Amino acid sequence: MLNSFHYVRYRLGLASPSTQTSERERSCLRRHAAGKRRLAEIGVWHGVNTRAFREAMAPDGVLLAVDPFPRRFFGIRGFGWARRIAHREVARSGNGRVVWLECRGEEAPRLPAAQPFLPVDFIFIDGDHSYAGLQGDWQAWKDRVAPGGIVALHDSRQRDGCGSERFTQDVILADPDFVRVDEIDSLTVLRRKT
Ligand SMILES: C[S@@+](CC[C@H](N)C(=O)[O-])C[C@H]1O[C@@H](n2cnc3c(N)ncnc32)[C@H](O)[C@@H]1O
Repeated sequence: MLNSFHYVRYRLGLASPSTQTSERERSCLRRHAAGKRRLAEIGVWHGVNTRAFREAMAPDGVLLAVDPFPRRFFGIRGFGWARRIAHREVARSGNGRVVWLECRGEEAPRLPAAQPFLPVDFIFIDGDHSYAGLQGDWQAWKDRVAPGGIVALHDSRQRDGCGSERFTQDVILADPDFVRVDEIDSLTVLRRKT
């Protein structure tokens, strides 16, 4: 109900697409995405950062936009309000190419549609914020990041110990293949060592 109300206001130009990222985080993400050629975002929602990555990436870049966009309500297929907003927002830029993968983050790198674009040189993980959810994404993607590539993790710090924060602090930051390069608000950015 709330989603449909927001969608109508959005289409009337009365509401903006929403994001949980702060302005400082968006600026940091955009800087790291600039000029990259193989990108992925796990968890698109309204596509605010997806659009920004598309605008910032190389003209021959490819961005994998991964989100299951769940839209079943009591077994009935819904309208997919977030998905519709995301597609409209991301289409506002014509730069490079976006490949939409409607699945969970941990499933995406196994899909045939993703294969030509792996490994990535930038990934923003912002999907399932449970401990097990980020664990699944990390195990599926960490070896699909190219040497020198960037991994940005949302809700990975200053989040009162939520699952994704605990997994980041306990496991990801202890991974010897990665070095931390930025920390802003709840965002942690790492670089894969060469
Ligand atoms: C916090 S929002 C993402 C916000 C977006 N990255 C941004 O910067 O505005 C979380 C999104 O993750 C999606 N999601 C939930 N579980 C997921 C999973 N396992 N894999 C990929 N996406 C998931 C949800 O459908 C939702 O759209």
